[in-house]
Amino acid sequence: MPTGLHLFLAVATILSQHVQAADILVATVTYTSTWMDVAKIAEVLASRGHVVTVVAPASQKSDLMWKWPTLQYETFGDPEKPPPFKEFVKTVPEQMAFSSNSTGTLGLLKLLNIFRSALLDLNEEILSDKQLLTKLNNSHYDVVLTYAGLSCGPLVAQYLDLPLVCTMRSMPTGQDVRATGVPNPLAYVPTASSGLSDRMTFLQRVKNVLVYFAFSTIGQLIVDKSYDDLAKRTIGDDFTISAALARTDVWLYQSDLMFDFPKPMMPNMVSIAGHVAEDVKPLSEEMEKFVQSSGDDGVVLVTFGSMVAAMPAVIADMLAAAFARLPQKVVWRYAGTPPPSLGSNTKTMEWVPQNDLLAHPKTKAFVSHCGYNGVAEAMYHGVPLVGMPLVTDAHDNIARMVARGMAVSLDIHSVTSEEVYQAITSVISDPRYKEKADQVSTHLRDQPQSPMERAVWWIEHVIKHGGLPHLRSRAIELPFHQYYLLDVIALLVAVISAILLSCWKCCSFAYGMCKRGNTNTKKKTN
Ligand SMILES: *[C@@H]1O[C@H](CO)[C@@H](O)[C@H](O)[C@H]1NC(C)=O
Ligand SMILES: *[C@@H]1O[C@H](CO)[C@@H](O)[C@H](O)[C@H]1NC(C)=O
Repeated sequence: MPTGLHLFLAVATILSQHVQAADILVATVTYTSTWMDVAKIAEVLASRGHVVTVVAPASQKSDLMWKWPTLQYETFGDPEKPPPFKEFVKTVPEQMAFSSNSTGTLGLLKLLNIFRSALLDLNEEILSDKQLLTKLNNSHYDVVLTYAGLSCGPLVAQYLDLPLVCTMRSMPTGQDVRATGVPNPLAYVPTASSGLSDRMTFLQRVKNVLVYFAFSTIGQLIVDKSYDDLAKRTIGDDFTISAALARTDVWLYQSDLMFDFPKPMMPNMVSIAGHVAEDVKPLSEEMEKFVQSSGDDGVVLVTFGSMVAAMPAVIADMLAAAFARLPQKVVWRYAGTPPPSLGSNTKTMEWVPQNDLLAHPKTKAFVSHCGYNGVAEAMYHGVPLVGMPLVTDAHDNIARMVARGMAVSLDIHSVTSEEVYQAITSVISDPRYKEKADQVSTHLRDQPQSPMERAVWWIEHVIKHGGLPHLRSRAIELPFHQYYLLDVIALLVAVISAILLSCWKCCSFAYGMCKRGNTNTKKKTN
């Protein structure tokens, strides 16, 4: 009998640790690399028995079903006509990434604006589809999962009045800072896209402050406003993007202490950096053979991201010439025509199993445009980096890797073939880079939960309790004068002034009395 009871209790305990199968709605743009982060989490949620439904353009459904068969899809738009954003993703970033007018803060602003208007059209298609929204409302989901930047997901959650979990990398326009009310001390927290570290000189701090205020003003006046207008046109006046984001129950941040610099966090900001890197699969037979053929020299992996498969011929040839001189074998994600200087040691491929290659013990270095996922994977597997940042957060990512001592940064617009060769050779032959990379990797792996387990735990925690409003800080509700305690300071200054004033009055009165008293006494004695 006791054994039966024990068994029953054990099973009951295990079952009670799981939330019941829930209905999860994923409302985010399914084209950019941020989708991959959400999709990985969605797949794991589906494997735990939850029903995960993705809002996707009808024209993309078969492609998504093929790549993510365990997810369900609710579609919008014309199945015959892909949204213009798809074409944009294929062509524009390449031109922009390699044109010298896209670098620096101004270039980033331009890029952000182009992204914003392209994504706005896509979001408008979702929010103006009344049939879709009614269907979503009648499906009674338990939670909405979305990427927070430039996505209508938070507005969908607000409209359907559902709990919300947002994934987040970094937004230079500071939507997350305003929505969480997290303190953001500019003395040591570098603004996203500034390329600065937490050790800033006086002039760098000036730059940090100016960049922060420029971006956050643009964030409020342009980005937020265009989403507010979108909400007004489609779902009504009661909805604004800032209120929608402020409803977020949990923020799943793709940064952690080995990646980012220490800074304040709110209790509903959870770090899940590296959740994309855990899932390592064996290489294909052909690829494994190529990697093994490198012998003791090993392999160098080169990718410039999912959005930049091709590059200008001059830059491609400059890189090819540098790779050809290496004793290592080179695997290069490259889709254009082979450059004339391509060496026999270099294998170009349209797609590479990036994470699986980085996990391979023969991989010695990673040449990258420093998109977040590539950097996170290199950190997790301890591979030194040669970074040539192109756009958006890449400059910040490489600044962090250089600060960790596991990377060298080069400017792709001005670098020479010789410098590329030297940089790759030095991260491979100087043992300090590999030591630092290994240190980062072992730190990242030494956690009570893996980042993916943590992401899933928090999402299920939100589902179980129907939201976590007690974790949201009051900071965002306070008016300016209360937040900075201007009223309290004013009162204290008034009281202290009053006390000082009355002391002064008393003293001068007493002094006056004494003086008069003295004169009186003198008169008397006289
Ligand atoms: C920036 O570069 C792109 C691509 O080279 C070009 O089409 C565009 O006209 C340039 N814009 C400005 C403002 O110079
Ligand atoms: C969603 O459905 C509920 C009834 O289940 C209804 O009360 C509510 O108004 C609907 N919300 C929207 C935004 O349509």
